[in-house]
Amino acid sequence: MKKSEQWFKHIFNNTGVGILVVDKKRTILEANKTVCDMLGYKYEEVINKHAEIFHISEESSQRFQEITFNTIFKSNTLDLEYKFKHKDGHPVWIKITGDVIKDKDEVLWIVTDIDKRVKFQEELASLNDILNNKLDRQIEALREKDRQLQYQARLAQMGEMLNMISHQWRQPLMSICATTSFLHGKLLINEFEQKQFIEELEIIEDSSEFLSNTINDFRNFFKIDKEKINTSFESIVDTTLKIIKPILSNNHIEIKTKYESYKTIFSLENEIRQVVLNILKNSEDAFIQKNIKDRKILISTFTKDNFTFLEISDNAGGIKPSLLNKIFDSYFTTKDSINGTGLGLCMSKTIIEDNCKGTITAKNNNKNGVDFTIKLPIKK
Ligand SMILES: Nc1ncnc2c1ncn2[C@@H]1O[C@H](COP(=O)(O)OP(=O)(O)OP(=O)(O)O)[C@@H](O)[C@H]1O
Ligand SMILES: [Mg+2]
Repeated sequence: MKKSEQWFKHIFNNTGVGILVVDKKRTILEANKTVCDMLGYKYEEVINKHAEIFHISEESSQRFQEITFNTIFKSNTLDLEYKFKHKDGHPVWIKITGDVIKDKDEVLWIVTDIDKRVKFQEELASLNDILNNKLDRQIEALREKDRQLQYQARLAQMGEMLNMISHQWRQPLMSICATTSFLHGKLLINEFEQKQFIEELEIIEDSSEFLSNTINDFRNFFKIDKEKINTSFESIVDTTLKIIKPILSNNHIEIKTKYESYKTIFSLENEIRQVVLNILKNSEDAFIQKNIKDRKILISTFTKDNFTFLEISDNAGGIKPSLLNKIFDSYFTTKDSINGTGLGLCMSKTIIEDNCKGTITAKNNNKNGVDFTIKLPIKK
């Protein structure tokens, strides 16, 4: 008997888990060596003491009492992770599992030290916070970069717009200058013929009106749409050609249109104009870059099912098949940094697919060029 009692005591003290027996008043009746070591006490320092000594504060002890004793005497068992206090004052996280014994008068607590694990989890959580903050900052920095690049792309478009305006203005301005100096000369030599004067003044008026109209066209063209309106591919292409055709002709590019759709779409007119302009500018760049001799662009519209299609087809050399699936990616460009940001087609895709609920695709054609096809739903 004595031997088995000694044997039991040995196991009791040397098992890997802490064991505590506490009565209903929370007096510690038994404690093994593991739990004493875990909390920094000697056996004599805990026996018959109130379990409060293991707690970091009176409130914490009170809370533990409420959580554990209320539950455990109802359901007989309890499993809990809680912050206890080491004898030298530092907190120790433990996992505690309780069982009611001896006709519900006492509780047997099995105590495991989980301090390392909890501290590791806390460290991990704080590292996670740091990482998340860092990530948030980096995402914000990327967004800012994106905003700046979009802004640069817009500035580049403005630059192009100024180019186009000055191109459009040269002819009427020269005509105004020539007419005024002609009239001036006539006045100086006192040769005043009323009918001729009126005709010449009409040339000046027409030219001035043309100047003012071009400014309005450009202003409308570069406005950002807020609302969708009823429009059609044909009217969008016509207004786009009105401002880009002179520049394209200047670069010996012949443009033909073949309209077979004339269907109404309810969409963002100006944004689609930007897309058409981007595609035409890309063709122009390719013609010049590859020094193509016979430069042709065909713009056609047609319908299929409930959709209307716009196809812009050039013979500007085409796109390497391995690059075809990259051209709509942001910042993908084969041009140098002055001539291309690589945002044109990416912005076009966003406009057509996200804002207008259509599709835009590109494929090489049999004319040694590219076909860009935009598909939009016809207004019901
Ligand atoms: N019609 C075309 N013919 C040949 N290559 C083309 C044509 N259209 C587009 N590409 C290729 O697709 C790439 C991406 O075009 P995208 O318009 O997105 O950018 P980019 O023209 O290079 O620069 P930007 O931002 O100034 O428009 C071009 O660099 C070019 O290599
Ligand atoms: Mg482009």
